[in-house]
Amino acid sequence: MGPPYDFASPDGGPGAGNDQLVYTEAPPLVNAGAPGYNARTVQTPGKRPALPPQALLLAPMVALSHRALRELILDFGGLDLAFTEMASASAAVSNSPYEECYLDVGPEPSRVVMQFYTVKAERLGDALAHVADKGIYGADINFGCSAPQIIRAGGGAAWMRKPTEAAALLAQARQGWTASLSAKLRLGETDDYQALLDFSQGLAEAGADFLTLHPRTDSEKFRRKGRWDLVGRLARDLSIPVMGNGDVLRYADWEARTREASPGGIMIGRGAAQRPWIFALIRGRAANPDFCLEVNREATAYQFLDLVEARLHPDFHLTRAKRFFYYYADNFSFAHHLKWKLENAPDLPAMRSILAEYFQEVPADRLSREMD
Ligand SMILES: Cc1cc2nc3c(=O)[nH]c(=O)nc-3n(C[C@H](O)[C@H](O)[C@H](O)COP(=O)(O)O)c2cc1C
Repeated sequence: MGPPYDFASPDGGPGAGNDQLVYTEAPPLVNAGAPGYNARTVQTPGKRPALPPQALLLAPMVALSHRALRELILDFGGLDLAFTEMASASAAVSNSPYEECYLDVGPEPSRVVMQFYTVKAERLGDALAHVADKGIYGADINFGCSAPQIIRAGGGAAWMRKPTEAAALLAQARQGWTASLSAKLRLGETDDYQALLDFSQGLAEAGADFLTLHPRTDSEKFRRKGRWDLVGRLARDLSIPVMGNGDVLRYADWEARTREASPGGIMIGRGAAQRPWIFALIRGRAANPDFCLEVNREATAYQFLDLVEARLHPDFHLTRAKRFFYYYADNFSFAHHLKWKLENAPDLPAMRSILAEYFQEVPADRLSREMD
């Protein structure tokens, strides 16, 4: 079985379940190189790669952070690093039919950070050895997942309750792993800053290259406002870069969070599923206040479906497409209605017809000028 995620959360979207993907190898689509595109992330295989300044990262999201979404986003440009959805360290080495799901790091492995969750330190070491020759930017340890079944098993956020063991896990993983090694955290059970700092310092001393903080407590899920002030404090207090993550949906959010917290970079999750061009827009606007992107939102919808068909196993086309449109449909005037129709579609051809009908009825939704 694949790693479960808390699909019961209000933002979990339609059930993508705990099923598994088997991806097919295929040549990457050509990167169109939108104006915001940058190619600054450089990695020499075997060397510890440097993080670009003010890095932009795609968040790990179960059933969303797969190759098809990565390719769509890279086509718009602006993205530095793309995290994969979390994979179970044990499953990654079990030669299960699911393995390939987590091991497809295309189309640009040097921009990919593979995220693992683990219960046992040895399993993580095995998983890292298994992916060592993939030329990826790095590996990330999930210390933030607060799904009850993961915590009960001792994975994800459960590690934040045992700081010494978590630091030992990271130190052990560091041995023999030459690419970047990072960890993604929430605040923990409470927003006790000193506990967060102690935990994070333990990881930095154990050899973490950077951390990502989604500043909500375990039980908050997506409720309440994220504590970006704590991202800022942690970024100031730690010797390694801290990425901030949470609720960045527009350029203005990126700008405000960057000013407020000065993190080493910003990771975007749901906002990237809704607007896969957000990274290109941020890069473009940061360089030029008058920058705007002309987006063909209808063509982007079909492009995503094409990528799902080209890159993902047929068994998973429908769940992955539905999960994406749960967010993407929010771009449109009649989002609720469109979501409902797509959610009830029996297959991808039906989804295409629903989309075509929608854009025929609401042609104004086809194109947009994206400035924020
Ligand atoms: C559908 C979904 C799946 C997620 N899966 C993961 C995961 O596999 N690993 C992880 O560390 N966080 C996961 N998250 C949390 C996101 O990485 C991110 O921390 C959170 O969505 C807040 O960022 P955002 O406001 O930009 O979406 C998931 C979130 C969503 C919505």
